[in-house]
Amino acid sequence: MTDSGDRLVSRDGHSVPLARRNSVLGADALELTAVPPATGAYSYDPGYASTASCTSRITYVDGEKGVLMYRGYAADDLARHSNFTEVSWLLLNGELPSHAELQSFSEELAGLRACAPEVLEAIAAMPAGAHPMSAMTVALSVMPAVYPECANPGDADHRRRFSHRAIANVATVAAAAYRNTIGETAIAPRHDLDYAANLLYMMFGEEPNPVAARALDTLLVLHADHEQNCSTSTVRMAGSSGVNPFSALAAGCIALWGPAHGGANEAVIKMLEEIGTSKNIGEYVARAKDPGDSFRLMGFGHRVYKNFDPRATIIRGICHEVLQELKTGKGRLFTLARQLEEIALSDNYFKDRRLYPNVDFYSGIIYRALGLPATMFTPMFAIGRTVGWTAHWCEMHSDPESRIGRPRQLYLGPTARSYTPVEKR
Ligand code: CMC
Repeated sequence: MTDSGDRLVSRDGHSVPLARRNSVLGADALELTAVPPATGAYSYDPGYASTASCTSRITYVDGEKGVLMYRGYAADDLARHSNFTEVSWLLLNGELPSHAELQSFSEELAGLRACAPEVLEAIAAMPAGAHPMSAMTVALSVMPAVYPECANPGDADHRRRFSHRAIANVATVAAAAYRNTIGETAIAPRHDLDYAANLLYMMFGEEPNPVAARALDTLLVLHADHEQNCSTSTVRMAGSSGVNPFSALAAGCIALWGPAHGGANEAVIKMLEEIGTSKNIGEYVARAKDPGDSFRLMGFGHRVYKNFDPRATIIRGICHEVLQELKTGKGRLFTLARQLEEIALSDNYFKDRRLYPNVDFYSGIIYRALGLPATMFTPMFAIGRTVGWTAHWCEMHSDPESRIGRPRQLYLGPTARSYTPVEKR
């Protein structure tokens, strides 16, 4: 920590020194803890757009340059050359695994794939029309009762067991949630398949196509972490109270589901289907630009990326390959998406606001080509992001500076007034 001379001068001329925390990459952070006592004012930052809520060593995003790195490795490189299991180890432990470490981690995760029967029973008890994200949240909420060996955030061994159990079980849970939506029972995991191939097997009960499994694995890698996004911040916030880690994941799952976050992949496909043909694109683009219409182009825009989302570029490439290789005949939406992207990117509204396709714009097209219904798109995102959620939860609980999350507010409600009995109102 250095004091580089940053100061905040209050209305009455009071000067408050702000300690500067130096980052390794990107913006530094100014410590504001001295500001309220000295000035009587809090910082006001709706959406936390200018707030660093914690220190972290896991993922780095440069929104201006379109850079995403996990533990210093470009996500692009990892997506092309690594795999989800290896990336999970990297995010959890900070280094790439040795050959022996990777082997034993893969075997451990495979051995943990089967869920406790109570978890599957909770999923099967969900009403037939329940969204798989609801079922996943319920399943995670049952886990504190069945996995007590993971309950103590202060114990490094519990943290390790929790993260491995969560990463291994979340795929089984998502597949069971899908099976429940089609009125079928869960399929037991296979241990001879890699993570993504087993996930496809548990959903469809068929020998997975290697092209499909590789595409899904790459998507999981690209979704694995994204620093302090809404769901990860939710996991940290819930976890900061010391709640059981599976409950913190359930909270993250709920936050992810919203259409402004991970729910956007499902919303993109709905939007493309609604647009239907290229001649309707203009009408939808006009609606997205109309301040009086709440419609937004789903899969466009990002709080941090202001040039392009590097994940979207990679996913667009895979989309092309998958559609060609699987020959599913589902290229119509991809063509429509490319046309929509081209039209939006040449429009001043999107250019001025620096709105580009994000990770969710093309991923749904791949999921569809793999045979997944739209309701399973966000669960796929949740499976990948479980790694990030667990890595951040573990990091938070091993950080001596971490405290319960408890922001303040700018109060705008009534001033003090006297109670009037109901008969006098
Ligand atoms: N379509 C039309 N206009 C948009 C869009 C969009 N998709 N996104 C932002 N804008 C406009 C917005 O209306 C505002 O305009 P103005 O300055 O005239 O008021 C301006 O751009 C800035 O938008 P904002 O809402 O202040 O930006 P934000 O950083 O708070 O929100 C976002 C980011 C991702 C929630 C938003 O861009 C959005 O709703 N996009 C569509 C949903 C989506 O694709 N979400 C997935 C995000 S990436 C994956 C993930 O994080 O899970």
